Amino acid sequence: MCGIIGYIGKRQAKKVLLDSLAKLEYRGYDSAGIAVLNKESHVVITKSIGKVANLEVMCTDADATEEIEDAGCGIGHTRWATHGGVTNTNAHPHQQGRIVLIHNGIIENFRELIVKFHLENQLVSETDTEVAAAIFNYYYEQTNNPEETIQKTIHELQGTFAFGILFADHKDCVYAIRNVSPIVVMHGEGESVLASDIMALAPFGNRYFVLPEYHILKMKKDTVSLMDLQGNMCEPDYLTIDWDVNQADKQGYPFFMEKEIMEQPDAMRRTILPRIKEGMIDLTVDGIPDSLFEGMDHICVIGCGTAMHAGLVAKHLIQQGLKIPVDVIIASEFIYEEPLITDKTLVIAISQSGETIDTLAAVRLAAKYTKRVLAIVNVVGSTITRESNYVMYTNAGTEIAVASTKAYTVQLCALYLLFGKLATIKKCYNYAKQREFVLQICDIIKDVEKILQDKETIHRLTQKLVQAKDTFYIGRGLDHSLILEGSLKLKEVSYIHAEAYSAGELKHGTIALITEETPVIAVMTQKKVKAKTKSNAMEVRARGASVLLLVAGELEDEADWDTVYHLPEREDIFMTFSTSVTMQLIAYYTALDKGLDVDKPRNLAKVVTVE
Ligand code: AGP
Repeated sequence: MCGIIGYIGKRQAKKVLLDSLAKLEYRGYDSAGIAVLNKESHVVITKSIGKVANLEVMCTDADATEEIEDAGCGIGHTRWATHGGVTNTNAHPHQQGRIVLIHNGIIENFRELIVKFHLENQLVSETDTEVAAAIFNYYYEQTNNPEETIQKTIHELQGTFAFGILFADHKDCVYAIRNVSPIVVMHGEGESVLASDIMALAPFGNRYFVLPEYHILKMKKDTVSLMDLQGNMCEPDYLTIDWDVNQADKQGYPFFMEKEIMEQPDAMRRTILPRIKEGMIDLTVDGIPDSLFEGMDHICVIGCGTAMHAGLVAKHLIQQGLKIPVDVIIASEFIYEEPLITDKTLVIAISQSGETIDTLAAVRLAAKYTKRVLAIVNVVGSTITRESNYVMYTNAGTEIAVASTKAYTVQLCALYLLFGKLATIKKCYNYAKQREFVLQICDIIKDVEKILQDKETIHRLTQKLVQAKDTFYIGRGLDHSLILEGSLKLKEVSYIHAEAYSAGELKHGTIALITEETPVIAVMTQKKVKAKTKSNAMEVRARGASVLLLVAGELEDEADWDTVYHLPEREDIFMTFSTSVTMQLIAYYTALDKGLDVDKPRNLAKVVTVE
């Protein structure tokens, strides 16, 4: 999951590249680098380990500035290390001869290519990217033609790539080609720019296109052209984006994560309200016909991480409420098993970015078995949306923080609406029941607002967590699905080993890990299992654990508990939202109090485009 940027035009390439890399940094921040072609056709490469800020320092020192100040053409890269450690040598861009290359993706056959092209003594880094650069250079030495070089090289490569390519003796062009990994392109007055995602394109306009796979992009300052691998020229398919530049700004919050947690009521309204017509759920705005669900006998939800956790909530809703069998399969598992799906299976692919390669690969596999692939995605025009039969866009707005919060909540909103629609089509809900469901769905936004208003109280709940090394979340039924997400949030931003455990299962071995140093968060929102979960909470308390109860409704022995937080009480299936937002805040404040970089946790990246 790296970020790439390419620019050619009237602005100073160095500044454009550095500013854009700062916007792309959430895709990976192990190292960063830029390459510019100055007026003497001299390639100047500057790279550094760590964040883009380190690179900026290197690009401003005297002699570096001298060489790159006037360059109007260049490429830049921010890296999440896959092949090769976090070192300056492994940082992109990589140069081989007259080729300078940046890459997002993985070349699966790079070791075979080293042997085939006898590159052993030619490489200085451990990366697959440098191998690709050497092969580009090999063919460029033969052809002296960029397009032919790209065609020949691509046929050698197996794997995923978004390449930005400079040919040192073509200072007026930036080339690119992709397979799976994303590239979007914008062409404006006297300038052209390519990037891994549209966030970096904001300063350049609002008309962009997605570079089609296996098409050679040739960017000049006054033109952009597309050529397929057979040499046919093609027209770009332009899209327009309505920028809300505030989305790329923290608006006074210390971290994007807090801003995005606080934005959730608005994000929920933007996702729910356009799909409510005269008090009923209406998915025509998504172009989803009722016929999609006719004859459907099984649902398979695929996703990764937080997106997969949202799928677990949907499983609970649909199976309990509609008696339709639902499988939730981790996308990276789905693609390596014979999927048990038929043309009667509705496949729901959930993804905030719409670019997660495991989920994309799962969508491509599912499409071989069913025409009922519905994507629930936040980023408009992303690859998964273009490869699904139907799309429900969530309207969270841009999510910058690596830890997903508002995107998860609006994924749940979309899934609840889908459940309500299905309940009506399957005649499980009559008119009155659906209207009541819709009222509840609109009302839960108030629960989230209440939690957000109470955020300082919740902040105080985290005091026992800040010093912890290990902690457990326990819950049953729907609460178990929720604590999987709650524990992931805490893990990824605070680095505390947080384990979500079925409350009833704990005593079958894992309770051996409970000590006085192991805080436990017990989630008790489901009435029918509340008493049982409380017993499990008593079992860990008896072994010295400090327990934080997140509870719906009354607690007759409240005085006996270390810490109790009362959630706004509602029917079991609607407790999801207030509970998950409370756990988001617990994770956020724990990381904040630990003084960590909440938006860019170590080892992580926002979009996982490597398998
Ligand atoms: C969530 O906080 C993580 N950043 C991660 O689990 C994420 O949800 C997962 O990588 C899936 O990403 P997607 O929704 O963009 O497909």
